[in-house]
Amino acid sequence: MSAAPGLFVTFEGGEGAGKSTQIRLLAEALRARGFTVLTTREPGGSKGAEAVRHVLLSGAAEPYGIRMEAALFAAARSDHVEQVIRPALSAGTIVLCDRFMDSSRVYQGITGNLEPAFVEALERVAINGVVPDCTVIFDLPAAVGLERARRRAAGLDANEAPDRFEKEELETHEKRREAFLDIAEREPLRCRVIDAARPQEAVAAEVLAIVEPLLPVGAHGHPERVS
Ligand code: TYD
Repeated sequence: MSAAPGLFVTFEGGEGAGKSTQIRLLAEALRARGFTVLTTREPGGSKGAEAVRHVLLSGAAEPYGIRMEAALFAAARSDHVEQVIRPALSAGTIVLCDRFMDSSRVYQGITGNLEPAFVEALERVAINGVVPDCTVIFDLPAAVGLERARRRAAGLDANEAPDRFEKEELETHEKRREAFLDIAEREPLRCRVIDAARPQEAVAAEVLAIVEPLLPVGAHGHPERVS
């Protein structure tokens, strides 16, 4: 996809790493420079994928097994890619996506114990060539992330139950952290790891510094006009 005029950045990591706040801050900074920015998330981000989101996060698909769940994540991703992400990139938009293919590799592939060939096949058909130009991995000790996620849930809505994927053990979350770091090590050109335990402003500055050199210059924004 590097030939597409837009820019595709995905954000990955465990629970409570601050992804959504950082995506919002980055979108604001880029819009202030004149870029067209689309923020989106998975599972979801398109009409069809949002329909599948509830099935996945409520745990309704869980009794049918990990293959079923993985296939549903892939179905949602395919719809999101074809209906939203690919057209936006073709139009020159900067797409910032909260979770993408690496979440499937980690949650379904590693901690779901799904065989790699199955995960890889689903990834291939779901993304259909739309590989992120950059993936920012928010790294945080699992205990810190889980505590943040719990506090957030309590603060926003005391009745909000943890979703199906937040209920799992600390050990599982630590395993996911390692798995994200492994991906970053294997794909250093695409992936950048950020220490998400630092203050929000420091993380935001680093995210911007990562994305800045990748910005499409001239055609769609006016970065040259901003001091
Ligand atoms: P959500 O509350 O939207 O996001 P977050 O944890 O980023 O705040 O929950 C999405 C959940 O779905 C999250 O626990 C990770 C999981 N997930 C997968 O298991 N596989 C996937 O491919 C994706 C995109 C998400």
